[in-house]
Amino acid sequence: MADKKTAVIISEDRSLIENVTEEIQPLVEINGVFDDPLEAYGAVKQNIPGLVFIDIVNNSKEGLLLAERINRISPKILIFLLAKEKNSDLLLQSMRAGVADYIIFPVASGAILKSLEDSIQTREGVTRRGKIYSFFSTKGSLGTTTLAVNMADHIHSLSGERVTAVDLNLDMGDVSVFLDLPPAYTAFDMVRDLKRMDENLLLSSLIRHERGFYVLSTPEEISDPEDIKGEDITNILSLFAKFMDYIIIDLPHEFSERTIAAMNLSDRVFVLIQQSLPVVKSVRKGLQLLQELGFGEEKVSVVLNRYVERSELTPDDILQIIKQPAFALIANDHLTATDAINSGKPLELVRESSRINRDIAKFASKLTGIKPKQEKRGWREALGLGRFISTALKT
Ligand SMILES: Nc1ncnc2c1ncn2[C@@H]1O[C@H](COP(=O)(O)OP(=O)(O)OP(=O)(O)O)[C@@H](O)[C@H]1O
Ligand SMILES: [Mg+2]
Repeated sequence: MADKKTAVIISEDRSLIENVTEEIQPLVEINGVFDDPLEAYGAVKQNIPGLVFIDIVNNSKEGLLLAERINRISPKILIFLLAKEKNSDLLLQSMRAGVADYIIFPVASGAILKSLEDSIQTREGVTRRGKIYSFFSTKGSLGTTTLAVNMADHIHSLSGERVTAVDLNLDMGDVSVFLDLPPAYTAFDMVRDLKRMDENLLLSSLIRHERGFYVLSTPEEISDPEDIKGEDITNILSLFAKFMDYIIIDLPHEFSERTIAAMNLSDRVFVLIQQSLPVVKSVRKGLQLLQELGFGEEKVSVVLNRYVERSELTPDDILQIIKQPAFALIANDHLTATDAINSGKPLELVRESSRINRDIAKFASKLTGIKPKQEKRGWREALGLGRFISTALKT
């Protein structure tokens, strides 16, 4: 990291201030410590620092309000909350306030520095190479895993680049089942190995599908997702983004800290929808919540899965309800989708010419900007000369 960032600490607690100062000093130059939020706000506004640390141990409401106001001064300021515990309400509120991360005290030595480095890298996109696309649905069984797995396959065959499918359904993931892969390297293993992880170790640890893309699986035995924190997901995905070209995430159907961390790093989040009123209404609510969390249309797109032309609910009707057109339509084809799952193969290997497969290929092409193979035309055709030349040859 080039220059030292400047930082402001806002807390009344001497020992906490000392603790933070000691931890962050290698990376940060502290140019202000305040116990009064108003005074701190004035100073931050006048002399914009790179980082702000706000102690919310005694008054989380006031601390969040201050974070929100500081975020409005400049979204470039990285705001860290210093807390004693993390609860989901506070997490949601802090996301809304534009907070970069939570630091829970007492903290293990080095943990703050790691969080700082990751947040700075994420914000500045320093070591980033890969694109992250997440698939999410507010209800189960809408096709999240089907789309994530087949998107990884299509992007890999279109681009030939390094692609990983990441299963974040940590307790009940089934990406490996969809691909008939044995239990392999999981997010739990990766958290354990993060400190020593480099490109070689990553590539040799992940299981690779015969089609060429990598997979981060989930454990065979039921595991506790709570063992993995939001910041672990941030670390895992930052690492993937460093060494992979595309990361396709199968997200669980929940707004947990893990989901939010993954969405935070995603270039685009695809929310699945179907032509059913309860699904459309639940997606509308989900989109509102995502909007409140700061994930608006610039990040979140809707994908209409199991699309049928003859439905009471047309894509236009859906547009009226959710005020967002679908980024892609994926045809309904239960037979092919189920055959693929039951044979443990990507759709391309099961029924290449099926509409569901071609729709996902088209979707992959839209995302990557690479034309699908069947659309790559010869030079004669591209110039509109094919028919002319064959006619001319006959005469
Ligand atoms: N385009 C489609 N056409 C027809 N059936 C589909 C389509 N996409 C998915 N399905 C079927 O819908 C079911 C659910 O799909 P999938 O498991 O991918 O959804 P999910 O959202 O990941 O579900 P879960 O809640 O179990 O995680 C499967 O039987 C799958 O074959
Ligand atoms: Mg699934």
